[in-house]
Amino acid sequence: AQAGQAAATLIAAQLIQYPQSVLGLATGSSPIPAYRQLIAWHREGIVDFSKAVTFNLDEYVGIPPTHPASYHTFMEEELFSAVNIQRDHIHIPDGSAANLQRECSDYDTAISRAGGIDLQLLGIGRNGHIGFNEPAPDFVVATNCVNLKESTKTANKRFFAEDEQVPEKALTMGIGTIMKARHILLCVSGEGKAEILKKVLYGPVTPQV
Ligand code: F6R
Repeated sequence: AQAGQAAATLIAAQLIQYPQSVLGLATGSSPIPAYRQLIAWHREGIVDFSKAVTFNLDEYVGIPPTHPASYHTFMEEELFSAVNIQRDHIHIPDGSAANLQRECSDYDTAISRAGGIDLQLLGIGRNGHIGFNEPAPDFVVATNCVNLKESTKTANKRFFAEDEQVPEKALTMGIGTIMKARHILLCVSGEGKAEILKKVLYGPVTPQV
């Protein structure tokens, strides 16, 4: 809860200083405490999203935006429906687009046209993934379509119905897209993330982590 409050403080400070900030947002359990705090501060009139622009990191391929486990639904439930963000300021990759390659390149173009990301919020997977950039031999620079690792599918199974398959693929900002952000705020909590966090902080920078 304290880490969430600290993260929300940095995001709120960004919005108070620059109300028109471009925020990069994440899903998963890590950012939820920060989103709850931002909603509370919004209700108290402290945080205003009316000029903010957002770009989410990723979305599954093959499920519609309205699917209960989609990241569109997650963001709607965990943040957007509770704050005063303008609908046309919200960007999330469309995993049901007919042309996924085109969707990815259009996404990077939209980020550039918005002036780039001021503050990118991130979580990290136990295997070291950020966004859906799985450990790989090389860094993938741009927004792209990835095959999910078994470990990631297993970790995300809890969000899908019992008889449902976790999608095999996802669209994700690339490492290059993420690293262009002017600030990065990585939220990590829980003992289960200790080992990977140690590698992140003290190990070499590699496409494996
Ligand atoms: C979410 C995302 C993922 C998560 C990561 C950690 O948009 O891109 O990289 O940040 O899987 O997930 P949690 O926070 O649920 O442990």
